Amino acid sequence: MSIAIFFEGKDSDSWAAALTKRLPDTPIEIHPEITHPEAVQMAACWRPPAHSLEQLPNLQLIQSIGAGINHITNTQQLGSGVRLCRFVDEHLSHDIFEYVLGGILGHLRNLKPPVNKLWKPESYKRLSDTTVTILGLGAIGGHIATQLAKLGTRVNGWSRSKKELEGVATYFGKEGLSEALQGTDILVSVLPLTPETTDLINRDLMAQLNPGAFVINVGRGHHLVDNDLVSLIEEKHLSGALLDVFREEPLPQDHPFWRMPEVIITPHIAAITDPGRAIDLIVDNWNRLQKSEPLKHEVDLKRGY
Ligand code: NDP
Ligand code: OXD
Repeated sequence: MSIAIFFEGKDSDSWAAALTKRLPDTPIEIHPEITHPEAVQMAACWRPPAHSLEQLPNLQLIQSIGAGINHITNTQQLGSGVRLCRFVDEHLSHDIFEYVLGGILGHLRNLKPPVNKLWKPESYKRLSDTTVTILGLGAIGGHIATQLAKLGTRVNGWSRSKKELEGVATYFGKEGLSEALQGTDILVSVLPLTPETTDLINRDLMAQLNPGAFVINVGRGHHLVDNDLVSLIEEKHLSGALLDVFREEPLPQDHPFWRMPEVIITPHIAAITDPGRAIDLIVDNWNRLQKSEPLKHEVDLKRGY
C-alpha cells in the first residue's frame, strides 16, 4: 500500500524524499506519474487537479496539507468511505496573527508609499481606540482574537457555535452576525469556505461596518463579493482592504483590485505550511490509519470544514 502526493506549486520531490526517509517501507508516488493507482491508500494534497483523486480505487484517507479543504471538496467527488484530514498547526495561527497585526498597524498608522513627494503628517489611531471584528474563531481566528485582545484592542468574534474567549465579545450564528458587526473599524475574515460562508462579505454586511472601515480577508476569496468591496471603497464608505485570498488565484491581470491604491494584495502567503510539520502529520496519520486509531484533525464532511 502506498502514499501519493498531489501538489500544485510545491516541490513534490523533496516532500517524497522526506517521506521515504520517515517511512522506508512505504512506496511514495507523485502525481501525475502514479504507476500503481490501485495501491494508493493515502493522498497528501494541495490543490489536486479536478477529479484526479477519483482515479484511486482504494483511497482511504486524504490529507490536506493546508488548513482549508475546499481545494479538495470542491474539485473531487469523494467516495463514501474516504476520510479527509486537514492541517492544524500553531505556526499557521501565529503566522496569520502576525500578518493580520501587520495589516492592522499599517492601516492605523497610514504606512504606505508616499505620493508626489508629499510631506504631510497625518493623524493616526491606536489599537486601544479600535474595534476589530473577527469572522471565524477556530484554530486561527480564535488565536488572532485573543492576541489582539491582549494588546488592548476591542475585539468582537463571530462563529457558528457559542464560544468563550478571554477579552473577546463573542457572537454566534446568523442571528448574532449584525450585533458582532456593530461599531467595527476593522473586519478580519478567517472563515472556512462552505455554502453558508460563500459571498458572506457583501454590500449588506460591509454597509454595517463603521464609515472608513478596513477589511482584511485571509479566509477564502469566495467569501468576499469583489464588486461590492470596489464600490464601497469608491463611495468612501470603506477606506481600503488587505487581501491575501481571491476567487481566482493568481488574481487575473485585469482585476480592478490591481488598479486600486486602497487595496493591498498579497499572493496567499498569510501563512505558509511548514513542510517538516506537515510531514510529521502525514506520517502520524498514516501510522494511525494502519493501526485503525483515531485520525488527527479529521474533517466533519457533513459540516464542511
Ligand atoms: P477552523 O475550522 O478551526 O475554524 C473555523 C471557524 O469558522 C470556526 O470558529 C467556525 O465556527 C467558524 N465558522 C464556520 N462556518 C461558519 C458559519 N457558517 N458561520 C459562522 N462561523 C462559521 O479553521 P481554521 O481556523 O484552522 O482555518 C480557517 C480558514 O482559514 C481555513 O479554512 C482557510 O480557508 C483559511 N486559511 C488561510 C490561510 C492563508 O494563508 N491565507 C492559511 C490557513 C488557513 P465553530 O467554532 O462554531 O465551528
Ligand atoms: C490554506 C493554507 O488553507 O495555506 O490556505 O493552509
